[in-house]
Amino acid sequence: METTTQTHVIWPDVELIRNDFPILRQSVNGNPLVYLDNGATTQKPVQVIRSMQEYYTGYNSNVHRGVHTLSQKATSAYEAARQQVAAFIGAQQHEVVFTKGTTDAINLVAAGFRREYLKAGDEVIISTMEHHSNIVPWQLACEERNAKLKVIPITDHGELDMEAFESMLNPRVKIVSVAWISNTLGTINPVKDIIALAHAQGIPVLLDAAQAAPHLPLKVHDLGVDFLALSAHKVYGPTGIGILYGKESWLNKLPPYQGGGDMIKHVTFAKTTYNEPPLKFEAGTPAICEAIGFGAALAYVSQLGLHKIQAYEHQLTTYAIEQLKTIPGLRLIGEAKNRAGAISFLVGDTHPSDVGVLLDQQGIAVRTGHHCTQPLMERFNIPGTVRASLAVYNTTGEIDKLVEGVRKAVALLG
Ligand SMILES: Cc1ncc(COP(=O)(O)O)c(C=O)c1O
Repeated sequence: METTTQTHVIWPDVELIRNDFPILRQSVNGNPLVYLDNGATTQKPVQVIRSMQEYYTGYNSNVHRGVHTLSQKATSAYEAARQQVAAFIGAQQHEVVFTKGTTDAINLVAAGFRREYLKAGDEVIISTMEHHSNIVPWQLACEERNAKLKVIPITDHGELDMEAFESMLNPRVKIVSVAWISNTLGTINPVKDIIALAHAQGIPVLLDAAQAAPHLPLKVHDLGVDFLALSAHKVYGPTGIGILYGKESWLNKLPPYQGGGDMIKHVTFAKTTYNEPPLKFEAGTPAICEAIGFGAALAYVSQLGLHKIQAYEHQLTTYAIEQLKTIPGLRLIGEAKNRAGAISFLVGDTHPSDVGVLLDQQGIAVRTGHHCTQPLMERFNIPGTVRASLAVYNTTGEIDKLVEGVRKAVALLG
């Protein structure tokens, strides 16, 4: 079997990086763990784990409301995390709203549009490759307001049909909401063109950056995007937290999402006035520890450097695709020219979940199924895929194990 590396990819510090991730040093089913399910969630470096432990052992306290020392310390750390996020995405601190994650951030915007901006006959544009979390909130909003959900078609290679998109833009469209990178196909969408075309007609754009944030440099002000959503757990941070970036003008006019403590200025039974953004959108005690862990994760990623991460992962992705293509009967689902390291495939008639189980027996973690993109599966007329998704700590040696593992699985299933 030919799995020898022809072009060994070198990230000088990969072993050093792996040392930061204790979870990677384990065996699964008698084999060293090969973790290739990073599109679902990434592993956490010790720097993140430590920052969260320090919070609970040193200064656990509620934020914003306390005069005592611990509360002030917690508030400073929470707001410092917001500043860290703002710097990471090139935004101002008050344009960063902490949410539970990408799903929550999209729901926040969709709820605001449902309440204030969508009327009967209006349109919302999404694309065929969206994650359910960028479909269902808009579907709910459109159903309630009698508006129409319009879907940008894609090519057989898994790229957006930009001509079709352009022809869909008209004054009835109230928002365009699309993924920057597809979690299933790996396609990197031409977000600058999307924003330029939409803005030329005065239409705001929301970018689902859940899969973009860990893999490429991201600066919202350079992009001019109106809203952007991401989840910490996909960028080496904890679960339960993410952000909505909103342009200041949008956050000022968007109605509150949930009511409760912290989002108010003054409450009477007759009328409540709201806090300024971002607190206007953060009702109740937030995920303080998680925000601190999120800040630590972004500090970690920034110190590695996103340009370097992007270059390394690009080489790793190219290598993985080259090697996977040597497997007889393997079909890639998603062959966009501009792509990232979420690699979906099928082999012959084998069922994705059978391949996934046999890979797990060899210690290789991949995801199988529809990846929360059921309409995309329908577009390709397939039940699901096997998806290997890469992160900065993966190596060419692990890709070789994946390829070898798939060969073994297919031989067993054949
Ligand atoms: C492209 C994309 N959008 C949205 C989400 C939802 O993210 P979360 O579950 O963290 O809210 C995901 C998660 O896989 C995703 O890949």
